Amino acid sequence: MARLQAGSVPRASLFPPRFVVAAILVALSMPLVGCGGGGKRHRPARLTLYCGAQLEWCELASAEFERETGVRVSMTRRSSGETLAQLWAERRNPRGDVWWGGTGDGHIQAAEAKLLEPYRSPRLGELHEWAVDPEGRGLHHTTGAYMGALSFAYNRDWLGKKGLDAPRSWADLAKPAYRGEIQMANPASSGTAYTVLATIVQLLGEDRGFAYLEKLDANVNQYTSSGAAPVRAAARGETAIAIVFLHDAVVQKSAGFPIEVVLPSEGTGYEIGCASIIRGARHPDSARRFVDWILGSRAQELGARARSYQWPSNRSARAPALLPPVASVGLIPFDMGRFGSKRTRARLLSRWERQVRGGAR
Ligand code: F6P
Repeated sequence: MARLQAGSVPRASLFPPRFVVAAILVALSMPLVGCGGGGKRHRPARLTLYCGAQLEWCELASAEFERETGVRVSMTRRSSGETLAQLWAERRNPRGDVWWGGTGDGHIQAAEAKLLEPYRSPRLGELHEWAVDPEGRGLHHTTGAYMGALSFAYNRDWLGKKGLDAPRSWADLAKPAYRGEIQMANPASSGTAYTVLATIVQLLGEDRGFAYLEKLDANVNQYTSSGAAPVRAAARGETAIAIVFLHDAVVQKSAGFPIEVVLPSEGTGYEIGCASIIRGARHPDSARRFVDWILGSRAQELGARARSYQWPSNRSARAPALLPPVASVGLIPFDMGRFGSKRTRARLLSRWERQVRGGAR
C-alpha cells in the first residue's frame, strides 16, 4: 500500500477534477485589470454628479442611470450659485464629472471661466431649439435639459385670514399691503432668485428694476439659500407668498396644500436647466454617457415620477400634464448669454447686496 508522505500528497485526491475545472472557469470569468495585475478586481465605472435639480429627481436619476448602465454614481445636490463656487474652488483639482440641473446662467458663467468641457451630444438633434446651445456661442459647453418659468404662489388660507387680495403681478408684490409676507431665495446662492433679478431688470431696465427690488425687499421676510424652499414654507403656512419656479409651486399645490399659483400679468422670466461636463472630469466616459442619457426622452419623462414638473428639452418627451403649455405662460424674451456672463452677473449681484440688502439684515 502506498504510504502518504509529506510533500507528496496526491493532488487529485484533495481537489477532484470537476472542482479544479470549475475553479479555473470562475477564475477566468473574473475580470482582471491588465496582465499580471496580481488578480486585482476590475473597478466598476464611476460618476461624480453635481446635481442642481430637485433632490428627489437627483436621487431618482442617479439610481436609474446606475441601474441601466452599471456606472456607480456619487451625487450631491446644491443650489446653482453654490455649485458654481464649488467648481471654481476645485478648478485645479476637479472632483466632479457632470453638473446637471440648476439654472443656465450658472453653467454659462462656468463655461466662461473655463470650468467646463465642450461636448456635442449625439442627442442634440432630438432637442428643442432653446436647449441646443444656451450659451449661444456654438461652443457647446452646456446643453439644455429642461425649462422652467418663474411664478409666485400664495397660501390662500393665510391671505384669507388676513383679508388680503391675491397678488396678480410683479407690481402687486411690492405693495405695502404685503409687508413681511413674501419669501424668496438669495440670488447669490440660488439660480431661481438670480432669474428673478434678471427678469426684473429685463422688464423694467436696471435702475427702475433696482428701485423695484428695494421696495420688494421691504416685503420679504427671509431670503433662503435654496430656490424652492419659500414655497415649501408657504405650503406649511410659514409665509404667505413665495417667489419660485412654477414647477416647484405646482408640486406643493398638487400635494394638497392650500397653494394657488400665479403667472405674473407683466410676463415672466425663465430658466434653462442645463447639463455640462466638468473640465478635467476624472471619469469622462461616464460623464458623456450620463449627459447623453439625461438628454434622452425616457430619462426626461422619469422626472414626473420624482414630482419634477419642468418642461423637458427632448422633443419626444411628454411634458408633465400638471403644467400649462409653454406658449401660454407669457415668457419674456430672456437674454441668457448676457445675464449668464460673469460681468453682468457679478455686477447685478454686488449691486443687489449693496443697494437692496445694504448689509441691513
Ligand atoms: O427645484 C428644482 C429647481 O427649481 C430647478 O428647476 C432649478 O434649476 C433649480 O431648482 C434651481 O435651484 P436653486 O434656485 O436652489 O439654485
